[in-house]
Parts: sequence; structure tokens; C-alpha cells
Amino acid sequence: MRVNGRSMRTIWTEPGEAGVFIIDQTQLPHRFLTRRLHSVEDAAEAILSMQVRGAPLIGATAAYGMALAAASDPGESALAAAAGRLVGTRPTAVNLKWAVTRVIEQLSRLPAEDRAKAAWALAADIAEEDIALNRAMGEHGVRLIEAIAAQKQAGRPVNILTHCNAGWLATVDRGTATASIYEACERGLAVHVYVDETRPRNQGASLTAWELGQEGVPHTVIPDNTGGHLMQHGLVDIVIVGTDRTTAAGDVCNKIGTYLKALAAKDNGVPFYVAAPSPSIDFSLSDGIAEIPIEERSSAEVTHMTGETAAGEIETVRITPEGSPVANYGFDVTPARLITGLITERGVIAANESALAAAFPERVIG
Ligand code: MRU
Repeated sequence: MRVNGRSMRTIWTEPGEAGVFIIDQTQLPHRFLTRRLHSVEDAAEAILSMQVRGAPLIGATAAYGMALAAASDPGESALAAAAGRLVGTRPTAVNLKWAVTRVIEQLSRLPAEDRAKAAWALAADIAEEDIALNRAMGEHGVRLIEAIAAQKQAGRPVNILTHCNAGWLATVDRGTATASIYEACERGLAVHVYVDETRPRNQGASLTAWELGQEGVPHTVIPDNTGGHLMQHGLVDIVIVGTDRTTAAGDVCNKIGTYLKALAAKDNGVPFYVAAPSPSIDFSLSDGIAEIPIEERSSAEVTHMTGETAAGEIETVRITPEGSPVANYGFDVTPARLITGLITERGVIAANESALAAAFPERVIG
């Protein structure tokens, strides 16, 4: 997608240049900075510090991290250590483990001298596949938006509410939840996006709003607690969110606060869809609430906020009393019964075991 009118991806390599390049998302929306990852440790640090984040992009970064590791030492124990380091960075998004496992499985079949080249090729494949999956989801999901638009007075926008950043910044390109939105815009449909700010890291206010602005998509940033009110007043036509891990039974783990949006949507008869590319589906789990590990993050994310002063300085200030304890869960689980449908690369399907098994028979375990 575009940054100041120029097409970009969130992660890339450059011919003749060593390493892997990323956008440092911790600096947005105030500064647009890129950085180069030289080693698997750089990749792990970029994931840990959330310079890259979002389940699909974490997966792609981990795959490139494995390529950096293989380039430095393709031996089995070095690769196992690199895999452990990467997988240990963030526990909830399953794409991380999915990507690292895929690389390890492929490299273990090769002699050591062939591993680095194969790892670079596989990382590039994973990145390309991510974009193709997102495009396919967008082509399926846009039909939901088209159907709503057909019921509206000509020119009235379809109002879409989203949570966190499931946009192109969370993927290699195009986004998961935003794929349908960008597709709708390209087809000339009028849309307007309500962007949950997504405390405490503000991925909505800082990232989703920024990328929609760069693409010229009409949007409004709202405090996280506003969605229910908007739905009660008929101001939201459809909710589309992303997922960090979806179980075989269709429970969806996504950024904290997603569950509350699903409850409000159910109470108000607003359709609630999840854009779920297959690498984010964990067919080994069925009970999302009991089985998905929920990342608990630093209290500083809640006690402090960072922003830009009128003078252009980036400053961080405390917003809670010194000493007040904090709980900071990164994700929650929305039970399948609250989900109208999953937008996958193979079509829009029901959030239940039989629909998921029918759509992805090769992934079903046991
Ligand atoms: O903690 P983050 O920023 O990595 O959170 C992940 C997300 O952005 C989401 O939960 C997203 O909606 C799913 S990934 C497309």
C-alpha cells in the first residue's frame, strides 16, 4: 500500500544489500522510519519491541529471522536455538510458530550448505503468500460490503467498525480486515471506517488511522468504549476485525477488547466478521478460552502514554498514580457463537468446526 504516494511493503529485501528492511511501527504516526535487521537477534528484538507486529507480519519477520540465522550458521543446533528465540518472543499469534516450524521442517531435509539459500527463498514465499491470501480474503469479504451498500441510499457510505490494526501494517501488504475495505474502495463503493483507538498501545489510533489516511479512506477514530453506543444508534453496518489465533471450533483470539465489540454487535444485530487467513488458524486447539496463551504485557504500556508535542518532540508521560497496580492482557477470546462469519482466503464461512474442516480439510488434525 502507499506511504506518501509511494508503494511499500512492511518487510522487504533489497538487491545487493545484506539483511532485511522493516518499517519501525513504534514511531508511527509521528515519524516514518525504516530499519535494517542484520541478525536473528535483530528480528527477535523487532518482534518483541513491536517495531513489527500483527500476526501475519510477525510470521513473515520470523521467517526472515530464520533466513538470517541460516546465513550465519546453518547447523542444526544453531537453527534450533534461533527457532526457540523467535517463537519465545510473543506467545499468542500462532503465525509465528507456523512460520518458524515451516522453515525448520524444510531446512532439516537439506544439507547444511543449501540451507541459507532455501531459507531466503522460503521467507520470500511466505511474504508473497501472505499478500495473495489477503487479496483473496478481500475479494470474498467485499461481497459483504457490496450487499450492505445495495441496501443503502445511493452515496451513503457503508460504516465499518474495526479494532486494533488488522491493516497492511499488520501483514506484508493489503491487511486482513482492511483487505475487504481497500477492495471496496477500489471498486468505487463508499465506505467509512470507525477506528477503535485500541488502548494501551493505540494500534488503531496510531496505525490504522495512519494507513487509512495514507490511502484516502474516510475514517473516524473513536475511544474504545464508543462502539456499543454507535451500534445502538444504527451507525455501524458491519464489524470486521483480525485474528491472532482462531481455533478449529471457530473461537477467535484477537486484540484485547474484541470480545466486548462482539457482545455489543450481537446485542444490536450488527454482523460481526473476522478476517482469518489460514496461517492464523490453529487446528490443534478447540477451546479458545481455555487453551490459547494470552500475552501479558508491561505495566508501562498502561501507566504511560507517548505522543508528539506541538513543538514536534516525542514525549512519554505518566497517566496513572505512582504505585497503582496494573493488569495488561494483550488479547481476549471471542467465542464462535458471537461471530457471524470468518472471511478466509477460501470464502466466507461459518465460525464452527464443520465449516472450518470443510474449507481446510488438509489442515484437520486426527
Ligand atoms: O499486539 P499486536 O499489535 O501484534 O496485535 C495484533 C493485532 O494487530 C491484532 O490483534 C490484529 O487484529 C490481528 S493480526 C492482523
